[in-house]
Amino acid sequence: MTTFDQILPITHEVLTAHCDKIAQLEWLVINRDLNGRVRFIVPERCEADDAQRTEIEGIYQVLAERLSPHAYPVNAGILYETTMEESLHGAKAFQLEGFKNVWIVDRLANESTWETIAEVASGVPRIVFFSIKGGVGRSTALAASAWALARAGKRVLVMDLDLESPGLSSALLPIDRQPKYGITDWLVEDLVDNGNVILSDMYTTSNLTTAGEIYLVPAHGNDPGEYVSKLGRVWMPKVDTKMGAEPWSARLTRLLNSLEEHIRPDAVLIDSRAGIDEVAAACVTDLGAHTILIFAIQGQQTWTGYRALFSHWQQRGVITNIRGRLQLVAGLVPDDERRLEYLAALRADAYDLFADTYDYVEPGAISEWNFEEVDDNAPHTPLPIRWNRGWYGLLSLQQRMVQVDENEVQSVYGELIEFLNRSLTQEQPA
Ligand SMILES: Nc1ncnc2c1ncn2[C@@H]1O[C@H](COP(=O)(O)OP(=O)(O)OP(=O)(O)O)[C@@H](O)[C@H]1O
Ligand SMILES: [Mg+2]
Repeated sequence: MTTFDQILPITHEVLTAHCDKIAQLEWLVINRDLNGRVRFIVPERCEADDAQRTEIEGIYQVLAERLSPHAYPVNAGILYETTMEESLHGAKAFQLEGFKNVWIVDRLANESTWETIAEVASGVPRIVFFSIKGGVGRSTALAASAWALARAGKRVLVMDLDLESPGLSSALLPIDRQPKYGITDWLVEDLVDNGNVILSDMYTTSNLTTAGEIYLVPAHGNDPGEYVSKLGRVWMPKVDTKMGAEPWSARLTRLLNSLEEHIRPDAVLIDSRAGIDEVAAACVTDLGAHTILIFAIQGQQTWTGYRALFSHWQQRGVITNIRGRLQLVAGLVPDDERRLEYLAALRADAYDLFADTYDYVEPGAISEWNFEEVDDNAPHTPLPIRWNRGWYGLLSLQQRMVQVDENEVQSVYGELIEFLNRSLTQEQPA
């Protein structure tokens, strides 16, 4: 009996055993459907050519027997298409290792976009706060960062995209300052071309005393309304008879572009959802993030999820498109003598995660960082956030931010803030 993870290795083995015949095909698509069953899609010409058709059927037969139940009977397992492009139906394919003419296409029930990595957006830097596990201090770090940047005179746009468990908004704004609408409302209104009507009612400034401003776009408005019903619709693609379907992540990018145009911020901080989740995929890969802060705390549970993501990026050949934008952040670092040990262990684990993706480069070939474990500027070297009694629970974040003082923020979040300041002063793509 075969299970899902054996599909690609077995396919590779069977095709390798028949590589001379496979090499004669113009292209071959291995279609892994929604139920995880495999079909071949081959050029239409092969159907008319008896000899070639028999050969392909023979290879599929061998594969189907090995993959069962992840395959079809041979009479239902092979499809013929005029061009490879048509066979994909807009999905993205990736090459089967070792074969120049064999492509895998994976049909998923959700619109997962982890492997399509947008170019860094031009203009103001978008900084995403992401973590594989929840409860690691991500939103608190974002609030403190927004405060510190605004304190230094910057206009900071904060997006609460943790739509399924919103909270940052109530943390940075007192109840009476919450705007009428939030991101969820816009995503629903946009489906009926009503998004722009609410745009100026979906952000307000924070009442914290800073030289700059914090503009906060919450997940929902002061009255969440029928939040569950709205949330169930935010993922909808927008269908236009002329333009086709616009995926929801493209709609979200459109929203962010409009907000940036209205607010003209110096930085955008985005609180992503935790985990390998669709909203997180949009934040990490689709919004053209300049920097993606990946939060980690010591312990195996952090690395299992990050490893799954990294191996996906590697398999799809896109890891180098995103690697340089990632930056590890260590949450909840002990505020005592265990601190150095904690950070060293975290860096070693993070290095293990990144090491496979570091190709060999000559010393000096990259100016900012090299690929050594002890490199302080490499993405795997964690920026520490100290555990601090004052930041733990009890007070609401809003009350905390009102009382906070510069020295305290510096002592807990100093390295992260310094990193953000450096990122903001780097040259942006035109
Ligand atoms: N530097 C810190 N020192 C001590 N406690 C902290 C610190 N930062 C955050 N906390 C506490 O840790 C808890 C989780 O923080 P926070 O809500 O910021 O995490 P999160 O990663 O955004 O979680 P979620 O996944 O639920 O969104 C809160 O109780 C918060 O008060
Ligand atoms: Mg949070």
